[in-house]
Amino acid sequence: MNFTVAIDGPAAAGKGTISRAVAARFGFAYLDTGALYRAVGMKGGDPIEAAQNLTTDDLARDDLRSLAAGQAASQVAVIPEVRAALLAFQRDFARRPGGAVLDGRDIGTVICPQAEVKLYVTASSEVRAHRRWLEVGGDAAIVLAEVKERDARDMGRADAPLRPAADALVIDTSDLSIEAAVELACAEIARHLRP
Ligand code: DC
Repeated sequence: MNFTVAIDGPAAAGKGTISRAVAARFGFAYLDTGALYRAVGMKGGDPIEAAQNLTTDDLARDDLRSLAAGQAASQVAVIPEVRAALLAFQRDFARRPGGAVLDGRDIGTVICPQAEVKLYVTASSEVRAHRRWLEVGGDAAIVLAEVKERDARDMGRADAPLRPAADALVIDTSDLSIEAAVELACAEIARHLRP
């Protein structure tokens, strides 16, 4: 069975948590596509070469969740050749037998426009910055400024900007518990699995 769940949205909206939970619930494989861009950003050197030669070691670095890695990822992600180098891997993953969940910024719009389920997970920038601050600490005002800067870059770039697919279900997690958001996502998937 091929069944793709595309989950897009801005930084710290809860995509990763929801993606891991629904993948576990339905027994689907999960790919955090942000990790690919983070690994390219942290590898240093020419980002296009880094994207073309990404290794499993690059993806296993323990600093990929840092603020610096998020900013570096967002910067290399504007380069069309970097995006092109990562495309085939993501598409192959999406169509692996047994079902797949991919989270990112352009999964429902560019990588898998034919995905069976498309979700757009979002929350206010203040709520997202607070969550990120709980994770990384530091100065809360700087964390909020970085979230807004990253949103502007991810939404404003020419190639594959962040936006909801026309047929995506939007889940705003600003005032939702994780459990409630996961249940909404699972109900949408179940509806498409067993129409
Ligand atoms: O989801 P994340 O915070 O790990 O993503 C880090 C950055 O990578 C994000 O700011 C933009 C980029 N990215 C992208 O352009 N396309 C994706 N599918 C995933 C991430």
